[in-house]
Amino acid sequence: MGGASLDLDAVRAAASKCAFVGVKYAVIEYHDSIGSTNDRAAVLAAEGVPEGSIVVAGAQEEGRGRLGKSWSSPTGGLYLSIVLRPDQAMLRRLPVTLLGGLAVAEAIDACTDLEAQLKWPNDVYVGGKKVAGILGELSRDEGVQRLVLGIGVNVGAVDLPEELSDTATSLAAHGEAPPLNEFLSQLLIRFEDHYTSVQRGGGVGILTSASARMPMLGTAVRINLPDRSLTGIASGLNQTGGLILELEDGTRDVFVAGEVEEVRPK
Ligand code: BTN
Repeated sequence: MGGASLDLDAVRAAASKCAFVGVKYAVIEYHDSIGSTNDRAAVLAAEGVPEGSIVVAGAQEEGRGRLGKSWSSPTGGLYLSIVLRPDQAMLRRLPVTLLGGLAVAEAIDACTDLEAQLKWPNDVYVGGKKVAGILGELSRDEGVQRLVLGIGVNVGAVDLPEELSDTATSLAAHGEAPPLNEFLSQLLIRFEDHYTSVQRGGGVGILTSASARMPMLGTAVRINLPDRSLTGIASGLNQTGGLILELEDGTRDVFVAGEVEEVRPK
């Protein structure tokens, strides 16, 4: 386990260091176990809770990942969803999921001696294996936008399924298991910093920080889209966080979503 486990008081204390999640009227929930924190946060968002409300769980029975996959959520991990209400201008600037991935990587840096990397668009890796994932779910109701940002981090000694052993890891597996409350506090502070900076029209520094953590930039990759796969050199991120690919036919294209994998030279 990652040091002290969480409870509602610990989550409140972690959130209190954060101006936007810690606001007096934000809803803060902690569940020892829940179906999915994203589902609970979506219910709260529909009820009109303020931006910055959070749902945290010690485990999830039906954790959800990107692309319809499940997210293995045993005790020892951190499972968090944040209710956000970004306007259109903010959504056009940078993907909020990228801010979440960067905040997780920075929290890992702050709480451990490990080096956290990002795999575009927003997976967090340590030692070549995935340690955290981000799931952003946007909905609109009578013109009002809400975004539930779900973050799952394998912090403590999580008991992951055998089939994930080649691709997934935890901080504890690398000999580092920061207390969950400390990790949560660092994560919220860093996320708030990036979110408010993009709200104010910033973002260049965020792109620079995120790019610096993406070892795949400058290398050959394959991007898998729903209808096709393309190979090229991942040359960088554009100003809205899209992946720029120099394709084999000499053209250049920008992608806003897709699964990217490394292409090893033959
Ligand atoms: C991915 O596939 O990489 C995204 C994983 C997102 C998992 C988190 S855990 C907290 C929140 N609740 C969920 O059901 N999913 C997200």
